[in-house]
Amino acid sequence: MSDIILGIESSCDDTSAAVIRDGYLLSNVIASQAVHESFGGVVPELASRAHEQNIVPVVSEALSRAGVKAGDLTAVAFTRGPGLLGSLLVGTSFAKALAVSLDIPLVMVNHLQGHVLANFVKEEGKENRQPSFPYLCLLVSGGNSQIVRVDSPLDFEILGQTIDDAVGEAFDKCSKMMGLGYPGGPIIDRLAAQGDPERFKFAKPHIPGLDYSFSGIKTSLLYFVRDELAKDPEFMEKNKEDICASFQKTLIDILMDKLIKAAKQTGIKEITIGGGVSANSGLRRRVEEEGRKRRWNTYLPEFKYTTDNAAMIAIAGYFHYLAGERCPLDVAPVSRMADF
Ligand code: KG4
Repeated sequence: MSDIILGIESSCDDTSAAVIRDGYLLSNVIASQAVHESFGGVVPELASRAHEQNIVPVVSEALSRAGVKAGDLTAVAFTRGPGLLGSLLVGTSFAKALAVSLDIPLVMVNHLQGHVLANFVKEEGKENRQPSFPYLCLLVSGGNSQIVRVDSPLDFEILGQTIDDAVGEAFDKCSKMMGLGYPGGPIIDRLAAQGDPERFKFAKPHIPGLDYSFSGIKTSLLYFVRDELAKDPEFMEKNKEDICASFQKTLIDILMDKLIKAAKQTGIKEITIGGGVSANSGLRRRVEEEGRKRRWNTYLPEFKYTTDNAAMIAIAGYFHYLAGERCPLDVAPVSRMADF
């Protein structure tokens, strides 16, 4: 008999539901929330309200696109955290209610595990390259910058992580600082493609081990832009492509230095990336270039699996389900998760 898992994701500002059958994706529906754009960042209260409005239609649409009835489901998997508590509450409560009403198992998923396992979502008729274990995942998003060692779908170890800001935050905050808009990552990525990455230099942090820091580069950019604008008020407008290209290159250098170090230290040559920033075209190119140079096998997630989506929650939930893990009904969502 088939295992049909419904995944529910509501950790930030995307309400998403996906259905997978025996590891193959049948549907993946995402409702994004444009309401935050004018605020230059996600407003938690507005996010929870939008999740409340979206959750029923999104789940219904995912079931209907999958050609599956609620009664056909084997289990419900949901994101327990980390994320915005009010947002997580909507998905968690809905998942619990659905599992109870259908009398089927409930499985909880760490959102970050979803990103790290995104390469395992299979689609019928599509080639699916999956890393073999152990592999390293560079997990880079608006909330995280980590190097994770993955020994099995349920066995993770964080080798290094940011001690302050996440790299996505650096993209977003610096974009705002330069008056370019939100979210900053895609905007800087697009402008960087037309600029010279060697034109300007920004200070890189010296953090021991495999940890990251991205708060210093923000300050470095802030002072740089302030000083140049004092000399020429048009400086930003005239040079934004080169500034973005140089800034993005610095961020990518910082990320890659530690990833290369982790690969050397562990001897692992199976390399993946995940999270919102893994959509960055410069980072994707660099991972492939370094991969060719260092004989890594590299696995880049499809763009649709880089941002928050329930397909990755459903596949992670499927692994937990197969391992016999079940979630009690009194489990509460958590904004931070200490262990992975
Ligand atoms: O994983 P994600 O969707 O959710 C959060 O962690 O909140 O990541 C969102 C982050 C944002 O910081 C956004 O600017 C960044 O991913 N991002 C990018 C690109 N696309 C999204 N950063 C760099 N280049 C991109 N193309």
